[in-house]
Amino acid sequence: MVTGKTGIRKDRERAGRLVVVSNRVADPKRDRKAGGLAVAVGETLEATGGGWFGWSGEVTPDAHKLKPVIRLVDGIYIVTIDLTSEELDGYYFGFSNQCLWPLLHYRVDLVHFEQKYYDKYKIVNRRFASALAKFLGPNDIIWIHDLHLIPMAAELRQHRCKQPIGFFLHVPFPPPEVVATLPRHHDLFKDLMAYDLLGFQTQRDARCFRTYAMQELGAKRLEDGSLETADRRVQCDAFPAGIDVDSFAELSTNAEARKQIAFLRESIGKRALVVGVDRLDYSKGLTQRLTAYGEFLRRYPENRNKVVLMQVTPPSRETLESYARIRRELDRLEGAINGEFGEMNWTPVRYLRRAISRSRLAALYRASRVGLVTPLRDGMNLVAKEYVVAQDESDPGVLILSRFAGAAESMGRALIVNPYDVEQVAYALQMAIHMPLEERRERHQALLATIKKEDVHAWSRAFLTRLQEARPGFGGTLPLDRSNEPSRPARKKAPPKAS
Ligand code: F6P
Repeated sequence: MVTGKTGIRKDRERAGRLVVVSNRVADPKRDRKAGGLAVAVGETLEATGGGWFGWSGEVTPDAHKLKPVIRLVDGIYIVTIDLTSEELDGYYFGFSNQCLWPLLHYRVDLVHFEQKYYDKYKIVNRRFASALAKFLGPNDIIWIHDLHLIPMAAELRQHRCKQPIGFFLHVPFPPPEVVATLPRHHDLFKDLMAYDLLGFQTQRDARCFRTYAMQELGAKRLEDGSLETADRRVQCDAFPAGIDVDSFAELSTNAEARKQIAFLRESIGKRALVVGVDRLDYSKGLTQRLTAYGEFLRRYPENRNKVVLMQVTPPSRETLESYARIRRELDRLEGAINGEFGEMNWTPVRYLRRAISRSRLAALYRASRVGLVTPLRDGMNLVAKEYVVAQDESDPGVLILSRFAGAAESMGRALIVNPYDVEQVAYALQMAIHMPLEERRERHQALLATIKKEDVHAWSRAFLTRLQEARPGFGGTLPLDRSNEPSRPARKKAPPKAS
């Protein structure tokens, strides 16, 4: 590996480097233990001498400091850029989190559009693209992530970038009627046509985008499922995100986990543990969940003092009113349930408003009888997958899963619920807590098999393989291990079109 300016120039000529772009950039060494994108792309980045590009997480008032910082970590270029506080307010808090996040989670009522937010969002994307374009080599393959960076490919094309560029949306894509409520939606979403491959979490999301593109952008759907406008063709499909199954299974069974489980047992005694783990976000259905738990204790009083709900909820985006509101509401509900049902020796809800380590999380899942994953809307929800993987196969807990989580598309053997229906969720809790061992095992085995098949490695391999296939004859090829991949049926080919 060569470093320094000449090194970067030489590395740029390498064939088949992967370049990942996301709003938050992980530290490849530390964050590979935390799962997610760092696991998915870490090995390919390392093998190809590729790079990871995005926001540094820092805000700087000095415009002259806004040049990217380049570090070489484990053979991977980490390229980060600071934002000014106006950019952070407009691009991140404004357009990404007050417009796109609620819109894409079907919460039109919470969308707060301001033209200045959108302007800053575009400016930041333009600035990222112009910095990234200088770093790119002719044979690179570029993978852009999530709602913060929709215009990136269109901006890169302005810099004459001809490389294959893929985009993966980590959150849902709603039906066209919902998307069309956003001011400037045409201007924004037409930029998705500048990619070569668009990846969505579920078939439902991919379907919604195709319909939107046909109805609103005048795209034509081709036989192979790709979309075509006057000057571009883009492939579009579902690539369900997964987890690193082996490392999470290890985390839930190692000595530290055993210690944590013993500690938990001591604290809750023989009571059945119900666990919920969610970022503090209105999309997670937390108020409905606590209400349903209260309803469960009311309707099925035989469970009182025999069950504990442990809700772990790290706060996020705290400066926004919609987040402050949900936090107040949860504080109130927790107090109301504990006040109504609690005993001198029993606290029905234990609510932790902070993050806990991944090893404690894994132990918490394994020690519990029920995993409660009831978002009102969620791209995938990897907690549902982690919960299943952490279970003891001989005596597994039961997963209650919202039908509106992307995970529900392939996890039908969970107890599937409508999170808005508190009576139904209360009944599911009763079923889960009293479910016979044989049924728990049978459901768990079925879920585990799917999760293993669709793990994080399969996810990135499937996406990157398709991205390469979308641009046959392109200079770079990624060294992807496809040996354990099930063979896919041949796809109908559409005639090639210049990009
Ligand atoms: O798009 C979903 C997501 O990136 C999750 O992976 C993550 O939990 C969350 O959003 C992080 O949000 P933020 O970067 O705004 O804290």
